[in-house]
Amino acid sequence: MRQTPGVSRVVAIDARLPLLSGMAHLLATGEGFTSLDAALPHIDAVVIATPPASHVPLGLAAIRAGKHVLIEKPLATTAAGAQELIQAAKDAGVTLMVGHTFEYNGAVWMLRELVQSRELGDLYYLDSARLNLGLYQSDVNVVFDLAPHDISIANHVLGSVPTSVRAWGNRHVDPVFEDVAHLELGYDDIGVQAHIHVSWLDPRKVRLVTAVGSKKMAVYDDMNVEERIRIHDKAVTRSPDKGMHYHHGAVTSPVVRFDEPLAVQARHFVDCMTSGAVPRTDGANGLAVVQVIEAAQLSLAQERKVLLSEVSGLTERTGLVPVPARATAAV
Ligand SMILES: NC(=O)c1ccc[n+]([C@@H]2O[C@H](COP(=O)([O-])OP(=O)(O)OC[C@H]3O[C@@H](n4cnc5c(N)ncnc54)[C@H](O)[C@@H]3O)[C@@H](O)[C@H]2O)c1
Repeated sequence: MRQTPGVSRVVAIDARLPLLSGMAHLLATGEGFTSLDAALPHIDAVVIATPPASHVPLGLAAIRAGKHVLIEKPLATTAAGAQELIQAAKDAGVTLMVGHTFEYNGAVWMLRELVQSRELGDLYYLDSARLNLGLYQSDVNVVFDLAPHDISIANHVLGSVPTSVRAWGNRHVDPVFEDVAHLELGYDDIGVQAHIHVSWLDPRKVRLVTAVGSKKMAVYDDMNVEERIRIHDKAVTRSPDKGMHYHHGAVTSPVVRFDEPLAVQARHFVDCMTSGAVPRTDGANGLAVVQVIEAAQLSLAQERKVLLSEVSGLTERTGLVPVPARATAAV
């Protein structure tokens, strides 16, 4: 943020600032605060990168004080909370943006272009995996922690939002929160499914999105910095007389123009707050992802496919409590 054009000063706000190595001195120089309330008179905008359960209360406090707000994913832990943030930002006339970092990533833009231009043919499905020996979060399960990235990538690449969600998950180590989960998102308007596998309990770090079409297939591997996108000229066709036909063509790796996504995101936030433009990942974009997560929580709890129309902002009606009571954020 410090290098972002238009930003003259950055202060750190963290309840644990005095305990964080190399940060305590910021308190004495006025570049650090232990609470948002104390910092508010000194700032124009806030980046909220605290545990997810604290996003709505902190976001509302900042917005109601007239500050522009960039909130890390997920925007909120309930659709109702996300809607409250959107309404508050509208009332206050400030910018609300969500940190869906992958929507500022050149490789994701290229994958979107491959799908939208139909270079892959008719898209059959998207498949994504986000696995590693991850940091167990104190207030949310692995779906809230990792799947927002994959859901936002899928929505962005497909240019749509899902109509249904089916989720399976297991709590292997933590008794309360799922540490491994699979989601199937149905994009009924375009007849495409997106499969998402997220895990905090895997020996390998995997960040992979595969798009499979009728003519070609593309793989986005975020761990392969030299060849983030590979296009496989491979396809299977079926004819009634000859059966299955397998086409094996070349594998190509186009050059991806890659600027650090967090820097692109930060520049976009500052541009929007100064010009009043609507961010690419605005509150509505964040809400769309939270709605899918909320549907996934209901699907996990009730072991069934859930329609998005069942959950959109209707947390109380479903009796769903996505964040268990023990999950109060540190303030
Ligand atoms: N975009 C990405 O790639 C990405 C990567 C990692 C984390 N995240 C997101 O960033 C957020 C934070 O994740 P993390 O892993 O850094 O969490 P963390 O628990 O490691 O750090 C959060 C910090 O927030 C502070 N904090 C908590 N409540 C506070 C409050 N009310 N006021 C001031 N400070 C407070 C804590 O003291 C802590 O230092 C989450 O929403 C997470 O999903 C995004």
